[in-house]
Amino acid sequence: MHDTLLLFGATGDLAQRYLFPSLLRLLTDGLLAEDFRIRAMALSAHDTDAFHDILRPRLQQAMPQAPIEDIQSLLRRIDYRSVDLRDVDSVADAVSDLADRRCVSYLAIPPGLYISTCEGLAKGGVLAAPHRLMLEKPIGSDSESAEQIITTIAQWIDEDRVFRLDHYLGKAAVQNLIALRFGNTLLEAVWNRNYIESVHILVAESEGVDGRDAYYARSGALRDMVQSHILQLLCLVAMEPPASLEADRIRDEKVKVLRSLRPLEARTAARDSIRGRYTAGSINGQPAQAYQPPEGSEVETFAGVTAHIDNWRWSGVPFHLVTGKRLPERTSRVVVTLKPVTHWLFERPTRSQAAPNRLVFQLQPQENIQLGLMSSLAGPEWGALELQPLELELSVPTGLHRRIAYERLFLDAFNGNHALFVRDDEVRAAWAWIDSVADAWKAAQLPLEPYPAGQWGPAEAATFLPQELEAAARGDKA
Ligand code: BG6
Repeated sequence: MHDTLLLFGATGDLAQRYLFPSLLRLLTDGLLAEDFRIRAMALSAHDTDAFHDILRPRLQQAMPQAPIEDIQSLLRRIDYRSVDLRDVDSVADAVSDLADRRCVSYLAIPPGLYISTCEGLAKGGVLAAPHRLMLEKPIGSDSESAEQIITTIAQWIDEDRVFRLDHYLGKAAVQNLIALRFGNTLLEAVWNRNYIESVHILVAESEGVDGRDAYYARSGALRDMVQSHILQLLCLVAMEPPASLEADRIRDEKVKVLRSLRPLEARTAARDSIRGRYTAGSINGQPAQAYQPPEGSEVETFAGVTAHIDNWRWSGVPFHLVTGKRLPERTSRVVVTLKPVTHWLFERPTRSQAAPNRLVFQLQPQENIQLGLMSSLAGPEWGALELQPLELELSVPTGLHRRIAYERLFLDAFNGNHALFVRDDEVRAAWAWIDSVADAWKAAQLPLEPYPAGQWGPAEAATFLPQELEAAARGDKA
């Protein structure tokens, strides 16, 4: 197990809110190497004590139940160095004394700094084997910048020691999609174009852009969420069964899905996609301000795209991908709608009024699975059969201890398991499709539709949303 974490971006929001608390939990549970240590690095000119004073209350806030001895034990393992990531020597000097340990460098920094930082890491001797590298998403902002990052870094470190994160893959509910799909005959039997009418993948957030303006102004919902989390969910839903759970067998299947995505074209962009940006509104009775990116930025906070996977299994099945900020609630779900039965026998309801079978995988905030069937249980016991929708719900008991996604991802990287990390060809294929969407939007001059914070996106987005939200989306606007 690797025993040394070189954490860049240590004063940033991601590190303070998620990475250090994850490490604390792993330490508390005895899952880190005995002599595990962390070198925290950022631009600010703190010394180690000052950094501990910043981090201590953040850890207490993130994990109020953590024993103070554990927090102290974590802090004792952390030393801090101020580093200028644009300066190769500054990076090399900050890490070279650790080159004889087994290091994992974690870059929780903007992708524009990846290359200079990695050059410094290589110079400092911590990218050669057996050292490893963890890279946060996004890798670049389009195919060209991603390619440059991937190929430049490949001079210094082999792919089998690079761990590209998509924290959605670290979520238990997301991993459960693999378990459900490949552990159940029931699902396997219907999982194709013969039985499935459509798939919706929705990642809705009630939070806004807040505090990440500089990054977001260059990114927007398409590059921030669809390129990574949503396309990874799409891969898990749509991929062929891998030959085994070995990392590369899973990643081989995911990349095939990404390569089968039909590029969006300008002539169909207005029909197959929508982009929006929130204006002032309210969420749960609380006022929310409009998002105002800096002059010249045209980014969206809401994106809906109907994707088509051009392969045998999915030909003709639309995948509606939707994400947005400042929507009424935080919810991530995959909704699989099945085709109607081939011949309808019943008088009531009529065929057209019958609800289609639906499988809803609710991923967060709660995890549960719903299966929508039609049954006559609620109808009269004699006479004409009267069918009504019946929801079967499998809820995971609440109060279950869930690890932060990063805990799992840290452990896998320390242990060298790639299954939940994104391979270079996946990144390339994901950007290739995202570029087609961005290009189509540009060529078609797809307008940025405003929506008040607290609504399900622009009214025109209703058709992209799963059926249970469609009415709300339309109704809100009415
Ligand atoms: C990040 C995005 O990758 O994921 C953020 O950059 C987004 O914009 C976040 O808010 C959502 O993650 P989660 O785990 O809260 O759904």
